[in-house]
Amino acid sequence: MELNIALLKGDGIGPEIVDSAVEVLYKIGEKFGHKFNFTPYLIGGCAIDATGEPLPKETVVGCLASDSVLLGAVGGPKWDTLPGNMRPEKALLGIRAAMELYTNLRPAKLYPALKGDSPLRPDIVDNGFDIMIVRELTGGIYFGDRGYREGKYGEEAYDTECYSRMEIERIARAAFEAAQKRNKNVISIDKANVLESSRLWRKTVHEIAAEYPDVTCTDMLVDNAAMQLVKNPSQFDVIVTSNMFGDILSDEASQITGSIGMLASASLGATKRGLYEPIHGSAPDIAGKNLANPIATVLSAAMMLKYSFGLMDEAQCIEDAVDAVLEDGIRTADIAHGVDAIGTKEITAEILKRI
Ligand code: IPM
Ligand code: MG
Repeated sequence: MELNIALLKGDGIGPEIVDSAVEVLYKIGEKFGHKFNFTPYLIGGCAIDATGEPLPKETVVGCLASDSVLLGAVGGPKWDTLPGNMRPEKALLGIRAAMELYTNLRPAKLYPALKGDSPLRPDIVDNGFDIMIVRELTGGIYFGDRGYREGKYGEEAYDTECYSRMEIERIARAAFEAAQKRNKNVISIDKANVLESSRLWRKTVHEIAAEYPDVTCTDMLVDNAAMQLVKNPSQFDVIVTSNMFGDILSDEASQITGSIGMLASASLGATKRGLYEPIHGSAPDIAGKNLANPIATVLSAAMMLKYSFGLMDEAQCIEDAVDAVLEDGIRTADIAHGVDAIGTKEITAEILKRI
């Protein structure tokens, strides 16, 4: 296959970790006979510096013309004081919306080799866990009506949570389809004891659940879910939830795996074109120091091969190489805990060796 991939390296550690994933993809191309063409575009703080805006039109056009998109991370202290719609983070929301990527898949699994890194007690993680968080990505409070106004106590600001039935239906279908390929269990997370939008969410998810009789579907309130994730993470298979709850719970889920530097994500819409990115941020404090863990981005590239291109063996080959590196005790600083750590470039070379 010949495939055109847009690269959005972004800020902080973004360029280093995307470079690692690109090397891995080149190696996969060599091994399996595919040609990957990469075209870089600006996003986030670097785009603000170069063009005055976080998401230049050229970037959107380039992504829409590509077969798929690989993203590093955006943001940093340099741009933190800009107004809301000029912040690097706005570009992330913007590109997801422009590409209509309403489904965000965030797998959080405990690697046996990293069991000791989980902050949870050994008896809690002994059974391991393998959770797929399906987060709604283009709706809810991150995209709702917002603004400033005069209120009872003077100036106030507001953001609005709003979900249409259509938005809930399509994310629910994505979750049930994911569950059919896994352990056939969906837990839908909401705050239906308080929020009207959650009540529509719950009702609609159950209507869609009826179309998937092979999958069990239960509900959990988000505050309880935050607790259950640290109390008994192995009870979860697929989680489906709104944009904001998914944002928060996926960070929590990542941390109980040991390191946020390990977790990949896929953002998908109605077409095969997706956007793949690590779930961690741009880590400006370690940028450019060859310290970053590139595994989340490398695994994001594997997700791209799987979900956008249907290249299952190739994706598996990357996942196996990462597993082997971890089994061999090779670590970057974030997952080293006492053992000697190696750098971004060096761990990339170790992954390449095992492909
Ligand atoms: C994430 C991030 C983003 C989000 C921010 C940076 C806009 O936290 O990808 O989880 O909330 O989606
Ligand atoms: Mg987040």
